[in-house]
Amino acid sequence: MQHCLSSGAGTQAIEHVVERMRATDLAQVRQIERQSFATPWSAAALRHELRQHAARYLVARAATSVVATVPPPTRRGWFGRLLDRIAPREPAPSPHPVTGYAGICREGSVGHITVIAVAPHWRRHGIGELLLHGLVDAAAELGVDTLSLEVRVSNVAAQRLYERFGFTVSARRHDYYTDDREDALVMVTGTLRDAGYRAQLAERRAAMRQRHAHPPAVGRPHTPTADGPQTITPPSPPE
Ligand SMILES: CC(C)(COP(=O)(O)OP(=O)(O)OC[C@H]1O[C@@H](n2cnc3c(N)ncnc32)[C@H](O)[C@@H]1OP(=O)(O)O)[C@@H](O)C(=O)NCCC(=O)NCCS
Repeated sequence: MQHCLSSGAGTQAIEHVVERMRATDLAQVRQIERQSFATPWSAAALRHELRQHAARYLVARAATSVVATVPPPTRRGWFGRLLDRIAPREPAPSPHPVTGYAGICREGSVGHITVIAVAPHWRRHGIGELLLHGLVDAAAELGVDTLSLEVRVSNVAAQRLYERFGFTVSARRHDYYTDDREDALVMVTGTLRDAGYRAQLAERRAAMRQRHAHPPAVGRPHTPTADGPQTITPPSPPE
């Protein structure tokens, strides 16, 4: 994980990176979960999801200083090596705050997006889009052919984000959400391996870089490199 600190227009720039979620991230993830959803997952449910081989959970982090990722200590002896293989130790907690998270789970040939959320004061800074690119990469790793998800009919913000990634509505599930019986829209992509879809995604990544490479003077996302993590100016602290 690489970080860089820069400044411009009187505000500090912050890089955002997406990486695998760790158990040590769960407290921050749960905080965002509670701020984002009426019926948040329990800590046990999140921990269970993290252990699933057919799932990938990612976090976006804001990096404000250069800190090396500390690898987990390895155990000694043959028994230690065996334990490392079957129950690898957690890396040390990251010093960089979690600004969003997302998950995908393989169901046959479909990658089902189980969750995506960004901390309220970090929304509209491109982090949702960054996480979705991470999920598409995770989908390739899981070997799925298409993506699917459910979204509240009233959640226009999320629907606009998904449309950017080629999701279209395939069905409507009535009374889907248990808290208020709101309907869900089922949104799906075409085949991820399709050349047209890949070209569309490459275009999106390029557009994201372009947008962040030429930010308006104050308070908009910004990235200094073609392929590196985004650099984003921080929002005002939450009230
Ligand atoms: C949905 C969510 C993850 C989007 O994250 P985000 O970091 O704010 O999204 P981005 O900044 O990457 O936005 C990417 C695009 O999505 C669309 N979008 C995002 N928020 C939007 C909003 N409030 N209204 C309309 N479009 C919106 C826009 O097209 C946006 O591009 P633009 O900023 O260039 O116009 C975030 O709003 C969130 O956490 N919501 C609460 C949890 C939730 O509803 N999760 C989805 C469950 S299905």
